[in-house]
Amino acid sequence: MNKNIYPVFDRIYDRKVKEEILRQSAKVIWFTGLSGSGKTTLAANLEKELFFRRFFCQVLDGDNIRTGINNNLGFSKEDRLENIRRIAEVSKLLINTGMITICSFISPTNEIREMARNIIGKDDFIEIFLNPPLEVCETRDTKGLYQKARAGIIKDFTGISAPFEAPENPDVEIDTSSTSIKDSVDMIFDTIIDRITL
Ligand code: ADX
Repeated sequence: MNKNIYPVFDRIYDRKVKEEILRQSAKVIWFTGLSGSGKTTLAANLEKELFFRRFFCQVLDGDNIRTGINNNLGFSKEDRLENIRRIAEVSKLLINTGMITICSFISPTNEIREMARNIIGKDDFIEIFLNPPLEVCETRDTKGLYQKARAGIIKDFTGISAPFEAPENPDVEIDTSSTSIKDSVDMIFDTIIDRITL
């Protein structure tokens, strides 16, 4: 056998060992939805619930990532694509360490989410679509951004002046205007528990 061949499956073995140490199966839990749909809130509450049950996880969130690794990106179609491409690559690195990775990004188009799914791998990608009506997100306006978008101060704002395409086949879809935080976390937990258990 040629000694210069280094088989790639030793990388796969590494992930398995790490998952065994962490006693979990690593997955990416990907939240998509409009600004104000509840992604950050549910990601944080899901993390809390998972830690309580001794799962080890990490949240990646839009505003945090855009403050750091992606602080050179805006909201054009190209920049959003690059934003999500980098996040998907980082998520893939994290799941290779055995980490359950909770991603919270608008990720507004089928193309963008398809790219993320392809980078991460479809078996490791669990899609959660938060789907309250736009009016509810706009009324919540936690960051005051909808008001600025309506006034034309912010351009290309998702749902107002930039598109949001609903996912075609999410693993979970939740209308957070009519579902409590606890019920939402329970629904997500029930969906993922078999897939994150070793
Ligand atoms: S994504 O479209 O590229 O996936 P991401 O989730 O990273 O977006 O960032 C969205 C966050 O950026 C929003 O929660 C909001 O706080 C902020 N933001 C600022 N400008 C915009 C805009 N034009 N469209 C959407 N979100 C914006």
